[in-house]
Amino acid sequence: MMSKQVRTAIFPVAGLGTRFLPATKATPKELLPVLDTPLIQYAIDEARDAGIERMVFVSHPSKSAIERHVMDDAALRAELKARGKPAIAAVLEENAFCHTSDDVSFVMQHEPLGLGHAVLCAKDAVLPGAVAVLLPDDLILEQNCLKEMVAAYAEGAGHMVASMQVPLEDTAKYGVLAVTGRSGRLLQADGMVEKPKPQQAPSRHAVVGRYILDPIVFDRLENQTPGAGGEIQLTDAIASDAKNCGLSGFSFSGRRFDCGSKAGMLRATLHLAAQDPECADVLRDFEAASPPSFAA
Ligand code: G1P
Repeated sequence: MMSKQVRTAIFPVAGLGTRFLPATKATPKELLPVLDTPLIQYAIDEARDAGIERMVFVSHPSKSAIERHVMDDAALRAELKARGKPAIAAVLEENAFCHTSDDVSFVMQHEPLGLGHAVLCAKDAVLPGAVAVLLPDDLILEQNCLKEMVAAYAEGAGHMVASMQVPLEDTAKYGVLAVTGRSGRLLQADGMVEKPKPQQAPSRHAVVGRYILDPIVFDRLENQTPGAGGEIQLTDAIASDAKNCGLSGFSFSGRRFDCGSKAGMLRATLHLAAQDPECADVLRDFEAASPPSFAA
């Protein structure tokens, strides 16, 4: 039976998206689409399907388009229906949050002080118990990663982070777990380091953007000093409690795409296009027209 102890999901979406400029000058990176669905929608769907009751978006005033995407737009739906497009109107209705319900909340992170600070901004908006954090630019397909984690999370288990093995030369792109043992898909850890150089990495088990955090993390974040990159790091707050509160990595079974990079976006797009009959002709034409060296 699925546990109901993880009731809130936090989506840190205030970042500037500098890696995707100029695309992100006016469009939040979380609204960039993979095929026809914005990144944020995949994360919302994952959280909903994992049984999350309240979603807290930590956004920035310059990114109000995210709120427009997330919240219901009854006038747009009415217009679509009037134009004979009830199917897409129904999709929008199913995806959107209703303005009067308390299952969604937006809080602002005015300054880019780091992921840890973003999570702290959500403190007063969360429901009691452990909280989930989803980073929308880590797109995980094929299996619902958060749902798997919620099912594996035992009450009072401390912090759990999604993890995957990466090549040693890539450790500086991730938080990395100090692994002490393994049982099944759970890795026990007694620490975590943000973006270590390969020679300082405690393991090759990198953290991917799905977390289930004991609420004690908010107390730690309040006193957290800036770490890597001068930012208040979520990794440091988690690590500071690893020994007394517990920390585990979870080897998820889905496929993760780094949609914070052009290559990752393209891979995710191709992955979904290959499953979409509407894209079959395009992919076939592209393959046929590609010079062999390009197609290799
Ligand atoms: C963030 C976290 C890092 C984690 C990564 C996963 O880094 O700080 O610990 O491994 O997400 O994508 P970012 O990619 O935002 O720099």
